[in-house]
Amino acid sequence: MIRRILVTSALPYANGSIHLGHLVETIQTDIWVRFHKAQGHECRYFCADDTHGTPIMIRARNEGIAPELLVARMHEEHLADFRDFHIGFDNYYTTHSAENRHFAEEIYLNLLQGGHIAVETVHQAYCDHDAMFLPDRFIRGTCPKCGAADQYGDSCEHCSATYSPLDLKDSYCALCREHPVTRSSEHFFFQLSHFETFLKDWTRSGALQSEMANKLEEWYASGLKNWDISRDGPYFGFEIPGQSNKYFYVWLDAPIGYMASTLHYCNQTGISFDEYWRPGSQAEVYHFIGKDILYFHTLFWPAMLKGGGFRTPTSVFVHGFLTVNGQKMSKSRGTFINARTYLDHLDPEYLRYYYACKLTARVEDLDLNLDDFVHRVNADIVGKVVNLASRTAGFIQKSFAGQLCEVYPEDGGLYASFVQAGNEIAQHYEEREFAKAMRAIMALADQANRFIEENAPWNLAKQGDLTKLHQVCSVALNLFRVLMTYLAPVLPQLAEKTRHLLNLNDLHWASCQQPLNGTTIQPFSHLMARVDAKRIEAMLSASRPLEENSTPQPAAPAPVPAPSSAESASATIQLDQFAQVDLRVARIRQAELVEGADKLLKLTLDVGSLGTRTVFAGIRAAYQPEALVGRLTVVVANLAARKMKFGLSQGMVLAASHPDATDKTALFLLSPDAGAEPGMRIQ
Ligand code: MSP
Ligand code: ZN
Repeated sequence: MIRRILVTSALPYANGSIHLGHLVETIQTDIWVRFHKAQGHECRYFCADDTHGTPIMIRARNEGIAPELLVARMHEEHLADFRDFHIGFDNYYTTHSAENRHFAEEIYLNLLQGGHIAVETVHQAYCDHDAMFLPDRFIRGTCPKCGAADQYGDSCEHCSATYSPLDLKDSYCALCREHPVTRSSEHFFFQLSHFETFLKDWTRSGALQSEMANKLEEWYASGLKNWDISRDGPYFGFEIPGQSNKYFYVWLDAPIGYMASTLHYCNQTGISFDEYWRPGSQAEVYHFIGKDILYFHTLFWPAMLKGGGFRTPTSVFVHGFLTVNGQKMSKSRGTFINARTYLDHLDPEYLRYYYACKLTARVEDLDLNLDDFVHRVNADIVGKVVNLASRTAGFIQKSFAGQLCEVYPEDGGLYASFVQAGNEIAQHYEEREFAKAMRAIMALADQANRFIEENAPWNLAKQGDLTKLHQVCSVALNLFRVLMTYLAPVLPQLAEKTRHLLNLNDLHWASCQQPLNGTTIQPFSHLMARVDAKRIEAMLSASRPLEENSTPQPAAPAPVPAPSSAESASATIQLDQFAQVDLRVARIRQAELVEGADKLLKLTLDVGSLGTRTVFAGIRAAYQPEALVGRLTVVVANLAARKMKFGLSQGMVLAASHPDATDKTALFLLSPDAGAEPGMRIQ
């Protein structure tokens, strides 16, 4: 029976880059989807960027661009990252779309009409300066429990206390550092408790892993609370119909993005949307998510669908978090690794295989141990699988004009047992027990290697026993083909090379029931290289933040002559390290002498949307202050402010000088060509 299956991964936030943590999920999902496609099912994989909310709005504002532009840029970046990891989405869309607005409104209006929306007055921190309500993460202050300074509005990293932002002491706005006031406003609440009976049935119907179902029972026991689904403007999101300056909270329209992505795909392909999402749908719907977003997907989401007039998911599959070398990903250790940084150094299929070796159906954290990673990939994929082909394809090519034996040789029942093992392996894939599937496949690979060792084709070639050589190599390549069929969901690129090598139409599960006889293969070309441990080191060092001391010496307060006259080559950095430096065009509004510092000028810079900055620059010897007023220059805008004797220096202007200049007047301030405007990014 052909199943109709819709699969999703959680929608990544548009305000950050894809990292190896996200990839645990997308790789897990992609393997599952590819497996079902290879089984001949009608399986589709939808995802999107999660674009709305305050952080996106603020980041766009800081960059001086419209949020739509930021979202479009991140979409391109995410798409390229996923493409290069061979994540085979059928559609990767965005929540900032007409389809998503349509469904968000439809669901909300149905909930409203059903009497499931309540209005309540909410008291919240408000920043007069920024004219906005402040989300918890945008308020900082002193923890009311332990007195630790500089804590977030909702929880203390020092003592782990959670509290209301209104209880925070000496609170300040994270954007402008001013003290917020308390303001009240009306908010809309989704009455989750109306769906308690329905949700309990759904939880107990077997839609969830048992450990997650237990977690939900705890939540039921502590009572289902109303959920605040509205936010006041300014907010980047969808306005609530019939209201002014009120927006849907990002988490309301985020999961609806699964439906928007489906509709966008259906509209392009002429497939029926309703058969996936409306009540009565016969399709299977699965969401893969991380354990941090369980509440949203197993309480709010099914209740919203139920009350909104749609069907509910068949299952939600929850996975744990990524650790690297046994610890949380960390920027300073270099283990917070972005997808692109990984791709700059290593083959994506190494990671796909390694994750597959570690993934189970349980909600456990997954450790990327980098030594184990090198060893595992080299020993298994290169040593056991690729080797089967590289040790035998050449003989077929050289001695038999590329042709396999016409009649499948006697192989002691190996081929039949490989086909037979496919059932168990398929079962493991189906149950998301990828680690078990990989172990079963490698056990077969061991058998195949033993066969080659025992029959030593290199000796047969030397002895001139061509008949036996032909047979042994034909068997080995046939076994290789079965293994690659089983590995294809994990290693699509290697599978594609295999398909080409063996001249096959596809590597569908069912096609390897019968061995290849008498077919011709292509000349063997390199399939996969070993992991080079040096590349791991390079990736880690590219992931570490710039050393504080290695930032270029500012023109302020005084240029430091290079220690030796020989120019030493500077250390190579990666593009993403360079991208951490926020260079902007600035206009010099004022330039003043600094009393008591004869090398410095105090510059007041207009940096467009970033506002005004004061910078002390060591360029006094080269420039008269009057000559600078009005001209454009380049400023490092995200350099940590430096407290100097004369005041705070908020950045650094860029100037050129000879590496070992003794003449302090030989300084050249950089400026962009005419037409550039203050605040423009330099990249
Ligand atoms: N935008 C929300 C999801 C909305 S779904 C309607 C979100 N985005 S996220 O970018 O923070 O995370 C996307 C997915 O990646 C989530 O399922 C999350 O659990 C997963 N992961 C993010 N970091 C992770 C690790 N370090 N390890 C494993 N998975 C992690 O949440
Ligand atoms: Zn503020």
